[in-house]
Amino acid sequence: MKNFILGVIVTMLLLGLGGLGIAMLGLMPTAANVAPPQFERRIAMTALDASMDRHAPRVHSPLAPTPENLIDGMKIYTMNCALCHGTLNLKTSPLAHSFYPPVPQLILHPLDDPEWHIAYAIRTGVRYTGMPAWEKTLTDEEIWKTTAFLANVEKLPPPAREFWKPSFGVEPPQEGKSDDKGGEKEDHD
Ligand code: HEC
Repeated sequence: MKNFILGVIVTMLLLGLGGLGIAMLGLMPTAANVAPPQFERRIAMTALDASMDRHAPRVHSPLAPTPENLIDGMKIYTMNCALCHGTLNLKTSPLAHSFYPPVPQLILHPLDDPEWHIAYAIRTGVRYTGMPAWEKTLTDEEIWKTTAFLANVEKLPPPAREFWKPSFGVEPPQEGKSDDKGGEKEDHD
């Protein structure tokens, strides 16, 4: 039993040193212009969801999803997030595939996460990706407005839909009516 435990410890040390050696010899790729392999994506997404589940407080939004708040969220999103996550004229961001992992396109493929999860991701960012932590840039109210907008992209009330169309030149996506599902879904689920 003693030898077995010693064996496990030595193996783990060797694996750790091996990993360090690979990094120090410059064998780890750093380029962001390639697609992550499927297994890496699965592990990373599962780890991200598990970490959010563990760390994010289960808070309710202090704001009601009124048309005014949703329209404010739309504007905040357009100014700060659309560059990476896709514009409201329903185009994929030109930067979508310039990050490792690629950036989820939040208008073309809206999130189905609860608001506490979305707000936590916005507030604290996602380490080792291009997702910034916005808590020093946006106020709490702005984070919740953006969260409400992202959680309701396909369920906007008529006044918010009426604001969208002339502002961005296209009909906003609507739940159950989208025929654009699937295409880039592999980017993020
Ligand atoms: C510089 C590019 C960039 C900008 C700007 C940016 N993001 Fe992100 N965002 C990313 C990347 C990259 C990821 C992917 C992280 C991953 O795959 O885990 C991401 C992930 C997310 C996620 C999903 C997290 C999850 O749980 O899967 C949300 C929500 C999000 N961003 C919201 C926003 C909002 C809201 C803004 C604007 C206030 C914003 N992002 C601005 C790059 C960006």
